[in-house]
Amino acid sequence: MKVISIYNMKGGVGKTATAVNLSYQAAQSGLRTLIWDLDPQGATSFYFRVKPKVKGGGKKIVKGKSDLDDLIKGTDYTNLDLLPADFSYRDLDLRFADEKDSRLKKLITPLKKEYDLIVFDCPPSISELSQQIFRASDMLIVPMLPTTLSIRTLDQIRLFLKEEKIKGLKLRTFFSMVDRRKKMHKDIIEEFAAKGKGHIEANIPYASAVEKMGIERAPVGDFAPRTAPALSYRELWREINKELD
Ligand SMILES: Nc1ncnc2c1ncn2[C@@H]1O[C@H](COP(=O)(O)OP(=O)(O)O)[C@@H](O)[C@H]1O
Ligand SMILES: [Mg+2]
Repeated sequence: MKVISIYNMKGGVGKTATAVNLSYQAAQSGLRTLIWDLDPQGATSFYFRVKPKVKGGGKKIVKGKSDLDDLIKGTDYTNLDLLPADFSYRDLDLRFADEKDSRLKKLITPLKKEYDLIVFDCPPSISELSQQIFRASDMLIVPMLPTTLSIRTLDQIRLFLKEEKIKGLKLRTFFSMVDRRKKMHKDIIEEFAAKGKGHIEANIPYASAVEKMGIERAPVGDFAPRTAPALSYRELWREINKELD
């Protein structure tokens, strides 16, 4: 079982859109996939038409008093299950602070038999929960906007990993919400791709099909499979999958 986290301490960079679409692509390719919506805002749960509600909330999960199997819901898609968000997840930082650093990693271990892939959709923060997520993951996938500030954030993430002494975690970046008509986007992408270690070249374009996910409540690959963003997410998944083996 591999664990990937879609993470950025910034909000609104396309984490959830990425988590939903990558999970869908992974499931389509035959991997038994679980997506865990860790953001109390519950956007991933909404996209998959599942109530953002977990019996006993985050507290029982962290204490190991919930059987994750009982909380997992099916989605409309083959091979794809969801562990929903819950509003109580807003306290996960505090809950995990009382536990060992590897608590989350331990919690998901029993799922190994059932799933080939776990995808964490992470809330925008850099915190106790983040370090638990990093320790539980094989790969950290960071969507970035093609702006200088967004790239600066990456340095802060690297620093955090170093300070928390998190090792063996693959860090991968890619650009999301790319507007090909903007010269600034093009310049930043070219410059970054040339020197970016661990950078994935598949860009996700800024596209109305992604915005429509909120109306369709489905991954783009499901309701608009031939659009540019659907193809881009497929390519992104292909590149990630290659590096997971
Ligand atoms: N590639 C894209 N093109 C257009 N809109 C996008 C794209 N990716 C995300 N969005 C929109 O931007 C907003 C934030 O995206 P989201 O995935 O929720 O970001 P995050 O999880 O990082 O906060 C949402 O309204 C979403 O529909
Ligand atoms: Mg999100």
